[in-house]
Amino acid sequence: MINAITQKPVAVACDHGGRSLAKALLARLEENKIPFEFYGTHTDDSCDYPDFAALVTDAITSGKAELGILVCGTGIGMSIAANKVHGIRAAVCGDTFSAEMTRRHNNANVLCLGQRVTGEGLALKIADIFLETPFEGGRHAKRVEKLEA
Ligand code: RB5
Repeated sequence: MINAITQKPVAVACDHGGRSLAKALLARLEENKIPFEFYGTHTDDSCDYPDFAALVTDAITSGKAELGILVCGTGIGMSIAANKVHGIRAAVCGDTFSAEMTRRHNNANVLCLGQRVTGEGLALKIADIFLETPFEGGRHAKRVEKLEA
């Protein structure tokens, strides 16, 4: 069991390239009794990742969610799209150390995963760590403030 640092539902979305990992991720969240909102995509039809990134970033900027997870083939397209939005700090992670550090130091609020790059077991572990690691604040707070300025 993991304890997520947020009480709000985790906002999750994927494109067609991330659908099977997203499904596994939703099952993991359910298993851990972590509330989530899934914004699609709901079919295997080819679709455009910026549209789904926007649904998750909207959920965060509107205050419905504090943390989001986006899955595409590489995680990169989703991260580029998400980082266009003020207030969003999205990180593509392919290892657990980066997932921990991007929460501790960058206060990342969106995790991006690449289904075609990262194996499912590792990706789920990365998501666990992302969801349970707090921001350290302190000297990192002013750096994050500069990102937002
Ligand atoms: C879709 O084929 C693929 O381009 C997309 O999932 C993602 O990897 C983009 O960055």
